[in-house]
Amino acid sequence: MTGDPSRRRLIAANWKMHETISEATGFVDKLLPRIAGVESVDVVICPAYPALGPTVELTRGSGVQVFAQNMHYAAQGPFTGEVSAPMLLEAGVRGVILGHSERRRLFAESDETVQLKTAAAVGAGLVPILCVGETEQECELGETERRLHDQLQAGLALVDTGRLGEVVIAYEPRWTIGTGRLAAPAHVQLVGAFLRALVADRSCEQAARVRVLYGGSITPESAAALLELDEVDGLLVGEASLRAESFAAIVDAARRLSTGGRGRPR
Ligand code: PGA
Repeated sequence: MTGDPSRRRLIAANWKMHETISEATGFVDKLLPRIAGVESVDVVICPAYPALGPTVELTRGSGVQVFAQNMHYAAQGPFTGEVSAPMLLEAGVRGVILGHSERRRLFAESDETVQLKTAAAVGAGLVPILCVGETEQECELGETERRLHDQLQAGLALVDTGRLGEVVIAYEPRWTIGTGRLAAPAHVQLVGAFLRALVADRSCEQAARVRVLYGGSITPESAAALLELDEVDGLLVGEASLRAESFAAIVDAARRLSTGGRGRPR
């Protein structure tokens, strides 16, 4: 199941609550020349809502895709402060991060709402980056698999089996986010295989297509060691994505491991 050449590597910048419109514009101006000619890697930028439209405009024709960081599961309605999939689509957004641990931890995002959002995103034609990850305590107690099983089963439950491969899964152990601590590559490889096997419980064909990203304190220096893993198809990058130079260096690490087009030497 590993090594499917259709799984292009994906490098996503999660800007969180950083980058005003003018800062986002400045970033894109610096980034595009640095990644010009990179065709073998999917490059995604996830700005805050106000900068989505301007980032879409500036990246048009460049191959860079713009994703949001969250959305509501309903298409419209009395949900003050929320944004729907049709609104994102009309703004030129192609996908959305869902269930990020900061949303789960700080904004009461539950497995149930992530479930509704993931199905709504796929139904609307947005690519969801569905985030899962255990706490440090769960990891120490040997509960990683149970926690990830619950999060992933819930997140995918309402997605049509034939479309599971459209979901991107991001494995982000909580203690590695924003801490400078990396998960051991051997651990990430095992978890990646575990997550893919969970998808295979519903469809082997879709499991071979699904992309699994790693996220948590990735830097240009650490990127290659994670990207080389068979079970890792890309990276979700926070802090290091806020500087065009370091984000471009991470994209370049992915490019060096991917041959032209869809190639994926293993
Ligand atoms: P970090 O964030 O790279 O700053 O650890 C990753 C994330 O939260 O997606």
